[in-house]
Amino acid sequence: MTTPAPWPYPFWIAHRGAGKLAPENTLAAFRRGAAQGYRMFECDAKLSADGVLFLLHDDTLDRTTNGQGIAGNQAWGALAQLDAGSWHSRAYAGEPLPTLERIARFCLRNLYGLDIEIKPTPNLEGATGQAVATLAARLWQGAAVPPLLTSFKPESLAGAQQAAPHLPRGLLLDTLWDGWLERARQLGCVAIVCNHALWDAATVAQAKAAGLRALSYTVNDEWAAQRLIDLGTDGVVTDRVDLFSPAAR
Ligand code: G3P
Ligand code: CA
Repeated sequence: MTTPAPWPYPFWIAHRGAGKLAPENTLAAFRRGAAQGYRMFECDAKLSADGVLFLLHDDTLDRTTNGQGIAGNQAWGALAQLDAGSWHSRAYAGEPLPTLERIARFCLRNLYGLDIEIKPTPNLEGATGQAVATLAARLWQGAAVPPLLTSFKPESLAGAQQAAPHLPRGLLLDTLWDGWLERARQLGCVAIVCNHALWDAATVAQAKAAGLRALSYTVNDEWAAQRLIDLGTDGVVTDRVDLFSPAAR
């Protein structure tokens, strides 16, 4: 049994900012989540063609901006001109894609926690992990609470581990693939962030015995949230900032 490190993060984490009530992964979405009382946010970070980290979930620009094609093929100067709000609603027309640095500074200024999901363009897994960790180490230097760096890609977490070993890492799992626990240990992770349906008492116990915190995504109904609380898990990522009050835990 390994004792887990102290856990400085709140239980409730707003997914992609508050990415259903406002356009996901934009500053407007973070502001919306903060207005609902949330104090920790999840976001998706990737590299532009000229090496700027910015927020976007998909590989392509088509769903959430007025641009087209592979986002990572474009330079930041072009990405910065895009409208990342109109797809959501007219109220957010003109909302720009933010850099990760812009969002980091917003969180640091307001003492909000940040879960940065490293969401690399294919073939840039290691480089994106390195870039996120390097930037985060610089921006959060001396801060009381570091960001949590998460990824589905072990190569991205390895890149982050190499660049800034002191920053906490979490392995994202959409299935319990063979060797997940051993891989998380090798990557020096402090947490497993699972599809919430994968957690049961035995799996939570396995993670905790290894000194890992048990977090879940994306939890949008009260029954599922209560099950995770009863299992003794440590945090959930939710779209439903309008349903779950972060003051409740
Ligand atoms: O926090 C994990 C969650 O964000 C992973 O799924 O597809 O929303 O990035 P996705
Ligand atoms: Ca994500």
